Amino acid sequence: MATFIPKGKNGPVVIKSLNSNQISDAYRDRLVISYQFIESCVPTIAFPFGDRVLNTPVMVGPIGGFDRVSEAGTLGAARATAEAGSIFWTGFHNKTEWTEILKAGVPAVRVIKPLKDNKRLLEEIAFDTENGAAGYAMDIDHGLTVYGELDAQQEQFSPKTVADFRLLSEASPLPFFLKGVVSVHDALLAAEAGVTGIVISGHNNRFPCAVPPLKILPKIREAVGDRLQILVDGGLNTGYEVFKALALGADGVLSARGMLAAYSKEGPDGLTQHILEVTAELKGAMGNTGSPDLKHINRESVILL
Ligand SMILES: Cc1cc2nc3c(=O)[nH]c(=O)nc-3n(C[C@H](O)[C@H](O)[C@H](O)COP(=O)(O)O)c2cc1C
Repeated sequence: MATFIPKGKNGPVVIKSLNSNQISDAYRDRLVISYQFIESCVPTIAFPFGDRVLNTPVMVGPIGGFDRVSEAGTLGAARATAEAGSIFWTGFHNKTEWTEILKAGVPAVRVIKPLKDNKRLLEEIAFDTENGAAGYAMDIDHGLTVYGELDAQQEQFSPKTVADFRLLSEASPLPFFLKGVVSVHDALLAAEAGVTGIVISGHNNRFPCAVPPLKILPKIREAVGDRLQILVDGGLNTGYEVFKALALGADGVLSARGMLAAYSKEGPDGLTQHILEVTAELKGAMGNTGSPDLKHINRESVILL
């Protein structure tokens, strides 16, 4: 009996109709802004994150490569993000880099993989808590591979339950986010587990034919109400795209590939300026849609063509 040998880690993503990034970008681009100018005002932007207040709801999403594109490395990118009044999210791959960021006192969030062993997870969460992380997260879409087998990278991963998430949430006073939610089902279970929030994310085309994050976002917001802080990512590279997400019900966004590109092109100053530019564009979209602050984004102002 033959066994199936996967050609690549992420499966058959070269087939266009299966490419979730393309499906998601096409949906994003069909959303347009209905501006309104009468009785408009200059908006204010203050984004609550845990016990901090940030200057922007746009944070740098976890993505590898900051160490390869600038001499200032990943720590330089984290510092540049803090310069813009934002927070740097990073992956689970490099504990040395992560320790450097924490030692430097730069506010950052680490996305921990769904390790099978909860004891190991509790150790990592204790490390983050004791060393001043701004929060912690888990990319829940890594329990199984795209082919439905248990996933692993150095350590064994596994799908997690509501009871697991409750345990991990109660292990630290820091904000805890589940990244990779793309269904009302998972959002409701996240709320039941008592986590701080979720990141609605397709994880860079990890699964074929996935619903666009911006399409499922309003349904998730309706289902969970204010029980969760909702972040979203996936091709949100300008302030106008960020505004679309906020108008559809998100509290904030992550941007990964766009931030890496800005860092690659112009280093730390370029990354800081990019975050400030996206935030300025967002402020423009807010002011000219009658959205005075992040809590009062005009939900009627985004229309699907
Ligand atoms: C090269 C690469 C590495 C990534 N590594 C991680 C990771 O370690 N953890 C994680 O949660 N997401 C990771 N992601 C997913 C991103 O955080 C993000 O969810 C995705 O790229 C969509 O956002 P974007 O369109 O702003 O890039 C990675 C994405 C890319 C392209």
